[in-house]
Amino acid sequence: MFIDISSLKKSYSSGLVKTEVLKGIGMKLEKGEIGVILGPSGSGKSTLMNIIGGIDSGDSGKVVVDGVEINNLSSDLLTEYRREDIGFIFQFYNLVPNLTVGENIEVVSNISKSPLNIDEVLAAVGLQDKKRRFPRELSGGEQQRVSIARAIVKNPKLLLCDEPTGALDYQTSRSILRLLQQVNKKYGTTILMITHNAAIAAMANRVFKVRSGEIVEATVNEVTVPAERIEW
Ligand SMILES: Nc1ncnc2c1ncn2[C@@H]1O[C@H](COP(=O)(O)OP(=O)(O)OP(=O)(O)O)[C@@H](O)[C@H]1O
Ligand SMILES: [Mg+2]
Repeated sequence: MFIDISSLKKSYSSGLVKTEVLKGIGMKLEKGEIGVILGPSGSGKSTLMNIIGGIDSGDSGKVVVDGVEINNLSSDLLTEYRREDIGFIFQFYNLVPNLTVGENIEVVSNISKSPLNIDEVLAAVGLQDKKRRFPRELSGGEQQRVSIARAIVKNPKLLLCDEPTGALDYQTSRSILRLLQQVNKKYGTTILMITHNAAIAAMANRVFKVRSGEIVEATVNEVTVPAERIEW
């Protein structure tokens, strides 16, 4: 198993009030698969993804990614894990506004050990002619494609997407989903994606339903649907 999580718990405290956000999560995803996490607002989806990505940590339980128990990593190794192994894509693209498209991608490729070619990645997301533009000169869908390019240029083992289409219209959402599916095929990248949209689950190999910090349902899709055929 590429991702193998068991009994993962996480609480946040504010003052005297302690809230248990993850109550013993178990989930598995194989290498090269697409996993989708569904669940209501506040159920713990982003907390779970942030722990898998090494930007937050669990209180107890095991989080194994590609054979490494990441809860036990030293801070140096955790930094390396985040930098080399993980690509993050968020709902709001988090691009650096005063850098061009090419420079936004270069910043990441410069700190990676074995980055992909920037022009190849730009072509893969269909933005080869926008390299010298600034983020404000792009549409929302184009900005999200830049953030996907930035996440895949380091050739990560795992692409974590937190509502990547949450800010986008229907057609643009579908083109972003198609692009993620292409990245999965072309580079063999394992993808874990959070969404509120249950229809998107059809493109996943595995679907995890989260409610109040627990996985209430985990299903395997024997057949996955191409993104361009998903409707909602
Ligand atoms: N850093 C934090 N400190 C304190 N509480 C937090 C922190 N991060 C998340 N929480 C709380 O944990 C719960 C789960 O949050 P989380 O962001 O994981 O939910 P979510 O499922 O991603 O929701 P949404 O769909 O709205 O993004 C929420 O009640 C939230 O307020
Ligand atoms: Mg969230």
